[in-house]
Amino acid sequence: MNVSEALATRMSCRAFLPTPVPEATVRAILDAARQAPSGGNLQPWHVCALAGAPLADLVARVKTKIRLHPRGETPAYDIYPPALWEPYRSRRHKCGEDLYATIGVKREDKLGRLMQFARNYEFFGAPVGLLFFLDRRLGPPQWSDVGMYMQSVMLLAREHGLHTCAQEAWSVWHGTVRESLGMPQELMLFSGMALGWRDESAPINTLRTDRAPIEEFATLRGF
Ligand SMILES: Cc1cc2nc3c(=O)[nH]c(=O)nc-3n(C[C@H](O)[C@H](O)[C@H](O)COP(=O)(O)O)c2cc1C
Repeated sequence: MNVSEALATRMSCRAFLPTPVPEATVRAILDAARQAPSGGNLQPWHVCALAGAPLADLVARVKTKIRLHPRGETPAYDIYPPALWEPYRSRRHKCGEDLYATIGVKREDKLGRLMQFARNYEFFGAPVGLLFFLDRRLGPPQWSDVGMYMQSVMLLAREHGLHTCAQEAWSVWHGTVRESLGMPQELMLFSGMALGWRDESAPINTLRTDRAPIEEFATLRGF
């Protein structure tokens, strides 16, 4: 598989088979992703990979808490600005609508939507849950570095026949995640990521999101 194929076949997978992923594979992916670039070579990423009992334990902890606090903990950061503007607002809306359409959940079915969203906190049934942290004192350039590490993980996963779904949704449970994993206070949870084998029969995995054409965001000059 070359880089273009990895990019073209990567998608956010939201239903996985329970088939385990060997530790050696996860280690190889996290290891190869170290080649991601970072400003000043800071390599600000920290990652915790969970499988088996530790994964089940985290999922169970959040499941218990979510009943009392459906919105999670006080956010450590805003996933989106409070009032999103165009074109971002429409893109976000379309992405959500297209996602729920794949599983036939209507707009007015608030419970159905909530239940699907809550699948985030089960890593969509993936056998591996990854959690990405960075030192809270670092700034936007280093967040971007962590994003590049995550993208490297997602592309390398494709090379192993695996799929992923990045999950900012986990950030609303940052305190519980940090406590549960015994992560130091200065490390802040940026995102989770489900990793595993795609369930090819799951309707939700039929979603293919679109992209704005290059003319909308790029200018090429002097060629
Ligand atoms: C940093 C990051 C966080 C994301 N968080 C979530 C999430 O919490 N839950 C989810 O279902 N999808 C999440 N996504 C997936 C996006 O919705 C998805 O990447 C986007 O709609 C494009 O679709 P595609 O990944 O299938 O190409 C996240 C993606 C990124 C890059």
